[in-house]
Amino acid sequence: MGCEGIDDMSKESLSITDNRTGKSYEIDIKNGSIRAMDIRQITVNEDDFGLLSYDPSLGNTATVTSSVSFIDGDKGILEYRGYPIEQLAEKGTFLETAYLLVHGELPNKSQLENWETDITHRTMVLENVKKFMEGFRYDAHPMGMLVSTVGALSTFYPEAKNVQDESVRLEQTIRAIGKVGTIAAWAYRHTLGYPYVYPDNDLSYSGNLLNMLFRMVEDKYIPNPVIERAIDVLFILHADHEQNASANTMRAIGSSLADPYSALAGAIGSLYGPLHGGANEAVIRMLEEIETVDNIPSFIENVKSGTDGVRLMGFGHRVYKNYDPRAKLVKEMADKVFEVTGRNHLLDIALELERIALEDDYFIERKLYPNVDFYSGLIYQAMGFPVEIFPVLFAIPRTVGWMAQWSEAFGDREQRIVRPRQIYVGERQRDYVSMKDRS
Ligand code: ACO
Repeated sequence: MGCEGIDDMSKESLSITDNRTGKSYEIDIKNGSIRAMDIRQITVNEDDFGLLSYDPSLGNTATVTSSVSFIDGDKGILEYRGYPIEQLAEKGTFLETAYLLVHGELPNKSQLENWETDITHRTMVLENVKKFMEGFRYDAHPMGMLVSTVGALSTFYPEAKNVQDESVRLEQTIRAIGKVGTIAAWAYRHTLGYPYVYPDNDLSYSGNLLNMLFRMVEDKYIPNPVIERAIDVLFILHADHEQNASANTMRAIGSSLADPYSALAGAIGSLYGPLHGGANEAVIRMLEEIETVDNIPSFIENVKSGTDGVRLMGFGHRVYKNYDPRAKLVKEMADKVFEVTGRNHLLDIALELERIALEDDYFIERKLYPNVDFYSGLIYQAMGFPVEIFPVLFAIPRTVGWMAQWSEAFGDREQRIVRPRQIYVGERQRDYVSMKDRS
């Protein structure tokens, strides 16, 4: 190969020949990607709109540049702002992690104290919000209550729509992190028919959440330190996860310059589905249905044959093609929690299910490993939570990542209103048929 060939090989570009026209194009490659707009110039004639890329469900399309969280799905790596999730889970706290995700750096001592005070002083929710929540039916799903109540916050904080103002965005971020726990806890109390519990500013974020969830008639609620720390760690693990369905929803709604509470309501709605944050609820329902370890082989056969569209819930991930690092940490934490709460009776089924699946060619070939939801539900259930509240417990910490990513988009001059293209495959230019002539 001559020198010219070597130069060509080292160029950060892509040569494309359109076989319809014989024309060639050179397209720049940056950060391992090409710009989808660069292929628009590829046309067959003057009337041609230009080449589109078709990517249903955005499996190979980057829609943003971001510096909030990083995933290497093949190696099973997750980092927040460059810090490995394992170190944050071992040494950090949830609010410290929230500061890191929102501000980009770990806080010093006084920054953390101020941040904790700011969030603690935003946990109270207006009485009108409480009355609004009381109007839900006794059996309302708490995730439905959370979606609507968080969305309704925009009516209480109209200034939130000044989204171009950085200080307004930060204020809403602090407010959202503070209030989402209170609304979530009240949604839980509502399903039990119990009075709502007001926040206690003396407690940590997780301790106060436990107070608002579980306090009965005691003068002062004192959280169990093991459970309080377990919630804190679970919240660290769930705080952000780059461009998943709900973060994408948050950004898409935010791109129209809607207020952040409307965007948050959309993101929570996206999280609700069983293929996303609703999976932890679906895992428990699946384990209960399997019922005994003896039934596992026939269940696995059903999954493999695709009978009734059954999937092994809590397994598989669009990005992780290795063990989800969060699942590893949750599994390790389960033993500590079970020492306090007692062992979850479904754990044996989960462990055996995991063992069989990881040795089975179907799962090996498709690189399906446990994701964060496989074990988190078992912990929440052992703590006494009903399954309906699991996705709500996911939404509380994820509010941090959603708000951080929403705000990040305003600093990116390339972001405009999200507006994908479609490939239209329907009928065209038909004449209206009057009712009497329709068959
Ligand atoms: N059980 C059985 N088979 C599965 C599973 C599963 N859990 N997940 C994927 N597969 C199979 C698919 O049937 C498909 O097989 P095929 O190639 O023979 O058709 C192949 O693996 C690829 O699956 P896709 O659906 O294309 O993968 P995708 O990236 O679209 O889906 C998802 C990812 C939605 C997470 C999927 O793995 C799934 O449904 N898992 C169960 C639900 C779950 O646990 N969701 C939580 C995700 S983590 C989170 O959101 C916090």
